[in-house]
Amino acid sequence: MTADQMAALHAAAFTQSRPWSAAEFAALLDSPHCFATGDARAFALVRVIADEAELLTIATHPEHQRQGLARSCMADWMQQAASRGAAYAFLEVAADNIGARALYERCGFATSGQRRGYYARPDGPAVDAIIMSRALP
Ligand SMILES: CC(C)(COP(=O)(O)OP(=O)(O)OC[C@H]1O[C@@H](n2cnc3c(N)ncnc32)[C@H](O)[C@@H]1OP(=O)(O)O)[C@@H](O)C(=O)NCCC(=O)NCCS
Repeated sequence: MTADQMAALHAAAFTQSRPWSAAEFAALLDSPHCFATGDARAFALVRVIADEAELLTIATHPEHQRQGLARSCMADWMQQAASRGAAYAFLEVAADNIGARALYERCGFATSGQRRGYYARPDGPAVDAIIMSRALP
């Protein structure tokens, strides 16, 4: 999947926050620590450093949501991260992102921290970030 495809999908899926540019995705994909999984319908971008994997972003195009695509990307990146040596995975999610939080819980993640007022919102008060984590097999 190219950086341009990722930027287009990210912009279509993220309506509450600033979309990431193709240049930002290209820079991340250039890093030997980062890898992506998925296709033009859904993808996840992950960074592995030492024994920790961080989910940087995940998105499913609105036309393809609730078809199990994100869950499949989650399973795939956790397996790839484990084979790169990660023993632990974490991510950040906005407290009001009910769908993503449900997805992560179904994928074995549990809340391990909170950052107050982390995500700015154009039409209201800032929203907390929830940090979720899990061990990798
Ligand atoms: C969150 C997101 C990636 C989920 O993608 P998806 O492909 O639709 O998710 P899946 O179909 O694999 O869903 C797997 C499970 O997650 C949960 N889930 C996913 N979306 C949900 C929603 N909107 N509401 C409640 N639960 C949801 C459900 O348990 C679902 O299983 P089910 O459909 O059998 O009930 C997608 O909604 C998205 O791109 N949102 C915008 C971007 C975003 O918020 N990314 C995460 C930032 S931290």
